[in-house]
Amino acid sequence: MSSGGSFLCVNGILASSTDIPSPVSVLLQTHQGAYTTTRTHDNGSVLLFWQRHLRRLAESAQILCNSNPKLLFGSNVSSVPILWTSDIWESIELSIDDSVKKVLPIALKEKSDSQELSVTVLVSGYLDQDKVSRAFNVFVHAGFYVPPMFGISHNAAHLAVVGRGRSFPNAKYSDWVRIRKSLEEFRPSSATEILLSNDGDRILEGSVTNFFVVCRKVATHTLEVQTAPLTEGVLPGVIRQVIIDICFSIGIAVREVAPSWSERETWEEAFITSSLRLLQHVETVQVPRSLELLHMGKPWKDIITEKRFTDNPGRITTIIQEEIIKKASTEGWPVV
Ligand SMILES: *[C@@H]1O[C@H](CO)[C@@H](O)[C@H](O)[C@H]1NC(C)=O
Ligand SMILES: *[C@@H]1O[C@H](CO)[C@@H](O)[C@H](O)[C@H]1NC(C)=O
Repeated sequence: MSSGGSFLCVNGILASSTDIPSPVSVLLQTHQGAYTTTRTHDNGSVLLFWQRHLRRLAESAQILCNSNPKLLFGSNVSSVPILWTSDIWESIELSIDDSVKKVLPIALKEKSDSQELSVTVLVSGYLDQDKVSRAFNVFVHAGFYVPPMFGISHNAAHLAVVGRGRSFPNAKYSDWVRIRKSLEEFRPSSATEILLSNDGDRILEGSVTNFFVVCRKVATHTLEVQTAPLTEGVLPGVIRQVIIDICFSIGIAVREVAPSWSERETWEEAFITSSLRLLQHVETVQVPRSLELLHMGKPWKDIITEKRFTDNPGRITTIIQEEIIKKASTEGWPVV
């Protein structure tokens, strides 16, 4: 049931160790569909923001089903429309619940004290035997994960803008894992994560993270947290929304607007978020003078401009990090 610290349950049936793809990206690259990844917290005792992840997974599957069924059912799907109903999701959700309850206790037994479990749920459609009706496979994958310590200098993110935004941003789909690989080819070796921007100025998101800046507003000298709006085509990250909720509840100004590189003088702090890392402070952001120059193969060092944050991690970043950890416990889902 375990293969190198990987555990898998498919439609409620535990996979034998020889059938478990590892790492999980192999599973995502071989099965089209909607997916989400979260992890446990506090020595495996709670699943982080589990209800929010299930909701986002249902939304992703519904968006793909209605507007790009190939990404959910594979390239053989015919043009026959598929009606997404709440019944479909209910049966998928039961299957997820069943699989989670089978696979997590086994994985927990094998993890060490410093580890948490990363948990990925993939909902992949297929044509049923009659070749007309659709059905779903539900994969629940667990692996070991050691969360990076927040605020430590060598855990800081170094970011580089290398490409344009995704074409089907509002859903989290496995095909993006493949596209992301092709963008990785442009990542300078100094960067730990790549950023996406359609015009080279307004920064949308990272390839596996959402991107935030804390700006000082010139007119009022007040601080404002900024991250790109969903309408500009960014992934509705679970932690992204958690942070917006936190800012509202503790009175930090927040605006959904893509951070503009031309206004980087006003950026005082920056951080990226993901469901595994939660929040990671940013030390440098590099942007090429144009994406064309980069894609023509010009050496990175000849075409970049850089922003470096010196006071790290910043005050607002630290406050938000602490609030996420508090919320992680109150909104966590008990594992056993
Ligand atoms: C972590 O959980 C395991 C059981 O899952 C327990 O044996 C261990 O003592 C816990 N470690 C800490 C530091 O609480
Ligand atoms: C798609 O259909 C073709 C022809 O029926 C078949 O050979 C192929 O294996 C199918 N591909 C998938 C991914 O199901």
